[in-house]
Amino acid sequence: MVQVAIARQVAAGLLAAAAFLFSFQQAWAADIEAGKAMSQICLPCHGPGGNSVTPGIPSISGHVAQAIGMQLYNFREGNRKNPQMSPIAEKLTNPEMNNLAAYFASEKVSPPTHQASAENIRLGPALAQQYNCTQCHGPTLKGIQHIPRLAGQQYEYLLAQLLAFKAHVRYDMDGNMTSALSVVKESDIPILADYIAGLDSR
Ligand code: HEC
Ligand code: HEC
Repeated sequence: MVQVAIARQVAAGLLAAAAFLFSFQQAWAADIEAGKAMSQICLPCHGPGGNSVTPGIPSISGHVAQAIGMQLYNFREGNRKNPQMSPIAEKLTNPEMNNLAAYFASEKVSPPTHQASAENIRLGPALAQQYNCTQCHGPTLKGIQHIPRLAGQQYEYLLAQLLAFKAHVRYDMDGNMTSALSVVKESDIPILADYIAGLDSR
């Protein structure tokens, strides 16, 4: 019984997310200028144009708009929780999220702030392929649809998220990341994070 109830809850959550994605794709042209004006409240944390210069805070520039919108939705609905980000997302309406997503997606990505080690630059590409990272996140790890850009993301953020998926404590909308990480060796995680953070995503 309990399991059935949980399964129903999960299904309901996925349906709501799917409905949001649908409305997101169907939405009339988002207003990039309105998104830019509102982005002023985001920049103290996410950096100029959404290019983070703070280790634990993700860059949000140059993601596919859908990926940004999806994460804002996940924070607003309390699926994904963070003491800094949740209070911000809780106040956003769907059109505001749509505009913000369109604006940050249109922003140019800055050069990476991270320099990977020569050893990890050598090992990284084969690992990213072997573990299918490139299959879902795109051949150059720049993100596809609702799947976020990884290339050039903050190193500490990438590492923390990967460890959180591995420990099953990061919200995972469709379970794909948790199952992807289940086969990744613990010792390969810092190699992947180091290699990916150093990639130039411009
Ligand atoms: C007080 C600091 C702060 C402010 C202000 C803030 N954020 Fe965030 N944001 C964060 C942190 C910290 C995270 C990472 C949370 C985590 O580790 O799970 C985050 C995560 C995100 C993510 C998820 C990124 C990803 O790659 O998964 C998006 C999208 C986002 N923020 C958008 C915004 C937008 C848009 C605004 C302005 C309306 C904003 N944030 C304002 C701190 C902030
Ligand atoms: C089967 C598809 C799939 C595979 C394989 C996959 N990912 Fe993901 N990844 C996703 C999806 C979907 C999300 C968004 C999950 C969510 O937020 O609910 C995600 C999110 C992430 C995030 C969080 C990014 C952010 O901005 O918050 C990181 C980091 C990540 N993936 C790294 C990797 C790495 C490294 C690999 C290879 C070891 C990998 N992924 C393999 C689908 C995949």
